[in-house]
Amino acid sequence: MKTAAEVLNELAQGIRSCTLCPLHLHRKLAVPGEGPADAKVMLIGEAPGYHEDQQGRPFVGPAGRFLTELLARAGFRREDVFITNVVKCRPPNNRDPAPGEIRTCTSAWLERQIEAINPEVIITLGRYSMALFLPNQSITKVHGQPHQVNGRVIVPMFHPAAALHQERFKEPLLKDFEKLPQILAELRRQPPAADTRPQQLSLF
Ligand code: URA
Repeated sequence: MKTAAEVLNELAQGIRSCTLCPLHLHRKLAVPGEGPADAKVMLIGEAPGYHEDQQGRPFVGPAGRFLTELLARAGFRREDVFITNVVKCRPPNNRDPAPGEIRTCTSAWLERQIEAINPEVIITLGRYSMALFLPNQSITKVHGQPHQVNGRVIVPMFHPAAALHQERFKEPLLKDFEKLPQILAELRRQPPAADTRPQQLSLF
């Protein structure tokens, strides 16, 4: 049987040469994501931006620097967590990813990354990522609260870029990250039932 690291490497190779949706036509580099295969915490952003497309790495621009700061508040180093996005290629002019692009990309790649890593907690950053797991929720109402979705624990949070552009999101985002160690400790006391874990995420 392949190790999680082997599976993730294979997925990353597939992502780098993926042509499943039109986003590949505009990319310089696809951005598979990065972090340890046995990460306990997985963060899912929206889509690569300019800097990520140039470097082939997630969250390396201003939002990424802020994310590193937020992680430090929670006692994590960036290298301790797995960071990826809903879609792996930059949408032209940073437009929103289209529903078809999201469906294609997540069923080909993100679902398999989640399965391979099997994290204790998934933090969704922004509404596109949250909508994969909690399609009918409002982020302003549920941010920072752990939700059990098909045997996975999801903590929706505001997107770091939103907090950089709008001051009112900053404080709640800082507070939500500060709560993360407590959420993990609680989960370890009372883990979610493993047998409810589905093979696939229910998307949209
Ligand atoms: N914003 C995202 O959602 N993802 C990145 O990788 C960078 C910025």
